[in-house]
Amino acid sequence: PFQLPSPRLEPFRETLPVLPGISGGNLELRAASSMHRFHPDLPSSPSLGYGGMDYLGPTIEAHVDQLVTVRYANDISAYPLAADVDPGLHGVSDLDRTQVPTSLHLHGGVTAPQFDGHPELIQRPGEGLVHEYTNGRAAGNLWYHDHAMGMTRLNVYAGLVGMYFLRDDVDTGAAGNSLGLPTGEFELPMILQDKVFTSDGQQSVRSTWLTPQGSWDPATPGDVGVVNGVVWPKVEVARGLYRLRLLNAATYSVWNLHFANRMRFWVIGSEGGLLAAPAPTDHVRLSPGERADLLVDFSMLEPGTTVELRNDEPVPLAVAQRGTQVMPVFCRFDVGSAKGFTGSIPQQLNSVAAEPASPDVVRNLTIMQLSRPSDYPSITMSLNNLRFTDSDIELPRQGAVEQWNLINITTEPHPIHLHLVAFRVVGRQSLDTAALMQRYPVPDLGVRWTPSAEEFVTSSLRPPEVWETGEKDTVIVDANSITRVIVRFPTADELGFDPDATFARGSMADHSAHGEAGMGDLQGYVWHCHMLDHEDHDMMLRYRVVT
Ligand code: C2O
Ligand code: CU
Repeated sequence: PFQLPSPRLEPFRETLPVLPGISGGNLELRAASSMHRFHPDLPSSPSLGYGGMDYLGPTIEAHVDQLVTVRYANDISAYPLAADVDPGLHGVSDLDRTQVPTSLHLHGGVTAPQFDGHPELIQRPGEGLVHEYTNGRAAGNLWYHDHAMGMTRLNVYAGLVGMYFLRDDVDTGAAGNSLGLPTGEFELPMILQDKVFTSDGQQSVRSTWLTPQGSWDPATPGDVGVVNGVVWPKVEVARGLYRLRLLNAATYSVWNLHFANRMRFWVIGSEGGLLAAPAPTDHVRLSPGERADLLVDFSMLEPGTTVELRNDEPVPLAVAQRGTQVMPVFCRFDVGSAKGFTGSIPQQLNSVAAEPASPDVVRNLTIMQLSRPSDYPSITMSLNNLRFTDSDIELPRQGAVEQWNLINITTEPHPIHLHLVAFRVVGRQSLDTAALMQRYPVPDLGVRWTPSAEEFVTSSLRPPEVWETGEKDTVIVDANSITRVIVRFPTADELGFDPDATFARGSMADHSAHGEAGMGDLQGYVWHCHMLDHEDHDMMLRYRVVT
């Protein structure tokens, strides 16, 4: 009973699917129910997809400053994970099993709040809305996914994920390719996930049968690697340079990715776009929500060589105690004899915007796990010792430069993501968490707990990893440590929209399940842990960018 339950599946049976691309100023995107076969030996599994796909969504290609209007509709007729809906979570009700709520979010988008996919701005089947993306930010590696309150982990797991490449004239694309980066078949979007399959072959969000179906689980790793919707695919490559655009779209798992032969590759971009120059490395560590833009040179390998893309990130102790092991592989690259893209690694890439100078405001923010046996669920994940509904939120000013000290007092890493803004990683330090908590005891849930941790720091500042040297929107905050990021909050003038506008929840009558009073306007953005189990309960807070 302590094993992950997936049936044994033979790896490298199917080739990596190429995700279709869509572009243009007027897009339609429907979320719909479907059936998807993850592996030739598995039956088709109930799934969700965007834009007519069985599972996942098409890659949206957009250009900086292009206005892209997305007509979104929820067409979900049958919900694949209905039995896993947990009405014990904030914002969730039994109605959600049949009338599944959705909210389309563009992750990394500099988007007006009413178009940002706020978790409380939901659409039920038969409903839709129009989002306007002005794309007024630098080119980068964006993605889109569902973000409905208390349902994100299920909706995303079922398949509501797609890539969104924002290009400019420097990056590749129709407008030019001045850097000589691989394009077309030599640029591969790769959506990485881990999954569990039941003994009858259906995708399942439960990581262990110890957790009864329908109850929220704070840790749902998988034991099967899935790339672009296929279990452990093989990727047939020519002898040349490839641009791999990786997304960690897992619910829970952090991965330390490397090639089995430990070959060197180059990181050329993070979430926010290209780095200043390619950074050589032999591994890249990605947590849920993070992206990496890589150049890999397969011309160094002999025809017939195969090399696996592997993971050796240890699983957190609490998860290891349940019997979960490292999920060690995602896919295998099979090098053919054809000559591929013949470019070289560029010397320079991009003039990355200078890191903001000294902060006007320094904020301490805490990442916590609370256990209250009288509650259901008995574990709550929290930021600042608050819940989503608590009104004590961060109110950064427009134009302010802030340093956020992200203080993790738990025993596992958490990827922290801020909507609207991009930040730079300043560095990390270890922390004597026990001493911190002894000095500043944690009050009842709902009372802010954001003490300064400076006296309890136990190491010098470790600079960001090479793949973290550009603009980012999601960052790993390791166990018992502090990660410092610096962020400038834009003004309404710079944005061309009011980031603090209020907007209506919508017109549906059944909102009482989703808000305290069920009515009233919404305002602002959210920041949260991108472990989807955690953001669903309750490691997500609102924030506003005020004047
Ligand atoms: Cu990728 Cu708030 O999300
Ligand atoms: Cu978390």
